[in-house]
Amino acid sequence: MCGIFGIVTRDDQPMGDTLLGAARRLSYRGYDSVGAATIDGGKRIDLRKDVGKVDDVAPRLGLSEMIGRRGIVQLRWATFGAPSQVNAQPHLDSDGDMVGAHNGNVVNNVALRQEFMAEGLTVRSTNDGESCVHAVERYVNQGLDMVEAIRRAYHVLEGDYAFVIASVHDERLYAFKKGSGLVVGLGGDFTCCSSDLPSLLPLTNRIVRLRDGEIVVMEPDGVSLWSVANGARIDRDPEVFTQGMDAAVKGGYPHFMLKEIHEQPDVARELLHLFDASKHVDVMTAAMQSANRLYYVGCGTSYHAGIVGSVYAARLAGRSAVPVLAPQFVAQFGPTLTKDDAVVFVSQSGETKDVLNALDVAERAGARCMGLVNVLGSTLAHRSRPYLPLACGYEISVPATKTFLNQVLAFLYLAMRMGGHDTKVLHGVPDLIEHTIATAAPQVDRILPDVNHRNDLYTLGYGLTYGIALEGALKLKEITYAHCEGMLSTEFKHGPLSAVDDGYPVVFVVGPDDVPLLISAINEVTVRGGRAIAIAEPDSRLTGNAHDVVALPVGGPLLNPILATIPLQLLSYRMSVARGHDPDFPRNLSKTLTVD
Ligand code: F6R
Repeated sequence: MCGIFGIVTRDDQPMGDTLLGAARRLSYRGYDSVGAATIDGGKRIDLRKDVGKVDDVAPRLGLSEMIGRRGIVQLRWATFGAPSQVNAQPHLDSDGDMVGAHNGNVVNNVALRQEFMAEGLTVRSTNDGESCVHAVERYVNQGLDMVEAIRRAYHVLEGDYAFVIASVHDERLYAFKKGSGLVVGLGGDFTCCSSDLPSLLPLTNRIVRLRDGEIVVMEPDGVSLWSVANGARIDRDPEVFTQGMDAAVKGGYPHFMLKEIHEQPDVARELLHLFDASKHVDVMTAAMQSANRLYYVGCGTSYHAGIVGSVYAARLAGRSAVPVLAPQFVAQFGPTLTKDDAVVFVSQSGETKDVLNALDVAERAGARCMGLVNVLGSTLAHRSRPYLPLACGYEISVPATKTFLNQVLAFLYLAMRMGGHDTKVLHGVPDLIEHTIATAAPQVDRILPDVNHRNDLYTLGYGLTYGIALEGALKLKEITYAHCEGMLSTEFKHGPLSAVDDGYPVVFVVGPDDVPLLISAINEVTVRGGRAIAIAEPDSRLTGNAHDVVALPVGGPLLNPILATIPLQLLSYRMSVARGHDPDFPRNLSKTLTVD
């Protein structure tokens, strides 16, 4: 989902590789167009952009040969305006004196375009990034300096976005933040900004994080921050980050997804160490326990972790926690939310717009807003009181794997602490995960021929494995493009059973306590010709009833959901590859969804 990067240096120099490097680091967010602009000492703007991936557009347009002392690169994921050369960013102002690009959405774009055209400005595209440029241009034309023009533009441009712009009339780069992420890096003799922190870290670790309603003026040797609200200067010291970008390589695996699946034992270990030492765990569990009502809010995979987490909270701490999709939380629980309620927002990216919208609502109601977040420095991490890191490092592959496992583990840990249980028993989890990865892979390969030719299947679970079934189905549909529905096993007979015919695959995720209940559901499928595949601890009752059993190590009912996730990850990965898809970057999807 769109990414921007800008850099200002002292002298003209080859800038293309720096811009391309940043674009590649931002590419995990998903995009359909690439564009770059440089400005040299002769005040010439070189703008090159087109539809396509970085490795396709860059050689075609010679992006690596671009020279200048200021540069902007943008990856566009189309929302306003079809993917096209003219809608690709950056955009020029009317007379080609300014160039800018944004990340996010300007929701009054259509009305603004009409206004700008009526004012005689040259509007070339239907993209809202261009409206950002014209909004600044309008006020520069009225004689305001850049910072004042940006302050005015900020109020005109409705929505959530971050924006970077440069003018040929000075030597600076300007950016501002309103809802979308924007971080600034100080390099000594250069300054840069980007939509996310990891993309800056290979260049510098001295970071200034912008807040909403702040403008940054960047020069080669430093920055100044200005408040949109009152025009006053803001003082903020840079933070020094130690995290590197080394993880962002495939490390010998054919895909990031497989690498990230194999990283699960390590990240689980890391999470447990971190939680054991964190004082925030106590703060969080105390707030969760004392809240009048408790909600677990997220989207997609993160929501599924919340579902499992809510069963843990009930079983281990007698605490009711309502798992809810972020936009539905706004609609359903927003109106009744009070300051006595608590919300745990769970998100890999910490930038999902649907989640941040829900956070806005919860904050306005005065509810206690806490977070489980993977990306450090993200908006959610910044606004949570407190947040716990998911400790997964970079997750590059679009389908979430290791972050899901650590979300579930984090919820288990919090539930145990809420219920006064000793979390030391969790220290065996990383080894169990490792064992599961090793033993599940050949079993999954065995069942692959029975499912891979089908474009329609179900995954069913119950209780603690309900959320795992939903997650397995999401993963399957996300990267195989087959239709797969996750469902509570008991609901299958209330309708979907009619889909079952000869060989129809139904995957059952079976917790050790739920075998008798699931055996009925398995037989309802097999007697109608369906192919029942169980993912479960070894159990003769299952081997006697299902066609295939993917056997998990014995971890007991609480750990079973974590271990059962792994064969489903591997199955979706293997199916995706067997179908010739790229599991890391499924079509139409983006890693970070910063739009409504
Ligand atoms: C699926 C997936 C998505 C995300 C969802 C929320 O594999 O990754 O369903 O879980 O878009 O994203 P975050 O967790 O970043 O808020």
